[in-house]
Amino acid sequence: MDVDKIIDKYGGKRRYLIAILQDVQEEERYLPKEALCRVAERLGMPLVDVFGVATFYSAFSLVPRGRHEVTVCVGTACHVRGSRRILEEFERRIGVRAGCTTEDLEFTLETVNCLGCCAIGPVVVVDKAYNGEMTTGRVKGIVDRCREAAKVEAS
Ligand code: FES
Repeated sequence: MDVDKIIDKYGGKRRYLIAILQDVQEEERYLPKEALCRVAERLGMPLVDVFGVATFYSAFSLVPRGRHEVTVCVGTACHVRGSRRILEEFERRIGVRAGCTTEDLEFTLETVNCLGCCAIGPVVVVDKAYNGEMTTGRVKGIVDRCREAAKVEAS
């Protein structure tokens, strides 16, 4: 990854720190320590300040994330419509517990307490796409499609 290229895109300006970190994360799927060091150096900021921003926003991750991100809403409205069983089905099919990333870095499975669209619950977000009225029966298809997409990308 060329961090300098990303920084150059924003003219090396401190006020674009968040945008720079977003671009780095978009490319790497997390914020590697080396990248944060380079950003701090190039923007002339203390590393602790860059880390401060990177750890403040939950959208940023300091550990590698999976190519596919699955977030199951377990908020009250989704919970009463069976989100716990849906989460368990994702855990079974993906092979990791909520909050974890698979060893092959294909999937990161997470939970959230409300996505603000309770009326279509249970809701699961897969790679930024909202899936409403989710059922356990749809889980296999979603996981299979993600795995197929990975195979196509690899070939
Ligand atoms: S509780 Fe799931 S979207 Fe609100």
